[in-house]
Amino acid sequence: MKRALILVNAYSKLISAINQPIRLKEEFDKLGVEVDIKKNSIDTAMIIEGEAVSFVEDYDFVIYLDKDKYTSSLLEKAGIRLFNRHEAIRVCDDKMDTHIRLAGHGISMPDTIGGLLCYNEEASIDEAMTRIELIEEKLGYPCIIKECYGSLGAKVYCADNREELLTRMEKVKLKSHLFQKMISSSRGRDVRVIVIGGKAICGMQRISKTDFRSNIELGGVAEPIELSKPFIEISEKVAHILDLDYCGIDILYGENGEPVVCEVNSNAFFGAMESVSGVNVAAKYAEYIYETIY
Ligand SMILES: Nc1ncnc2c1ncn2[C@@H]1O[C@H](COP(=O)(O)OP(=O)(O)O)[C@@H](O)[C@H]1O
Ligand SMILES: [Mg+2]
Repeated sequence: MKRALILVNAYSKLISAINQPIRLKEEFDKLGVEVDIKKNSIDTAMIIEGEAVSFVEDYDFVIYLDKDKYTSSLLEKAGIRLFNRHEAIRVCDDKMDTHIRLAGHGISMPDTIGGLLCYNEEASIDEAMTRIELIEEKLGYPCIIKECYGSLGAKVYCADNREELLTRMEKVKLKSHLFQKMISSSRGRDVRVIVIGGKAICGMQRISKTDFRSNIELGGVAEPIELSKPFIEISEKVAHILDLDYCGIDILYGENGEPVVCEVNSNAFFGAMESVSGVNVAAKYAEYIYETIY
């Protein structure tokens, strides 16, 4: 009997997060793999008597739709194959870490500066971050500020001047964050590409008329797009560098329409992509995993 487990986040109530495992299970059914869907829980894996112990038994593999890095790490230590792998999920979850990993591989991305960590709520930003002129010199205005952990556009901000930048710095000072050059040629517009098993299988363009962020959750509208060779090549290269079985990569348009990598989502929802592109993403992912395991 072929058996697999899909682990989902225990708290997420997003419709896309609920549908994702159901669609995958449907496709695995067709391949003859019995799939259980479970919420991640503290008793998925723990350290007992000095050993990583998994309580996930009798499964050939786990599709990890959560981002909890402790459980994913423990499951791998206990010998379970995760899709995606722990390290790939961990690096993608942290936007700065993603850019650092991609640096030096010839991947075009916006100039990015990591925010300094601040542990003290009382500290004033002037004290903690005296190099604002350097940020202005390197990135200019408007500039982008992002919390390193965030999705659906919610933790991505834009500052038009020093006052706005300082205000935002104050608000994010206790969280991991980064500063980034705004790719103005891509304002409110980007391309989402799904890569499975190293192959870019489909893409869509997202356009917002009301926000510099093109996320669908913030009013961006998705439309079909034929992926050009440079977009395909950069996507496949990024997925390879980060060792991702599956991902959705956000790509900005540079000044001449060339691809500039914005971020990589290890757990990208595929609902909108399936409707816009007409590609059965769940089936492609299930088939890839099937071939990898069996
Ligand atoms: N450096 C940038 N220049 C221009 N637009 C950007 C930049 N970074 C992000 N954006 C816009 O903001 C959106 C959200 O940013 P992203 O890094 O993908 O965060 P999230 O994980 O929240 O989706 C992107 O899809 C893009 O439209
Ligand atoms: Mg994004």
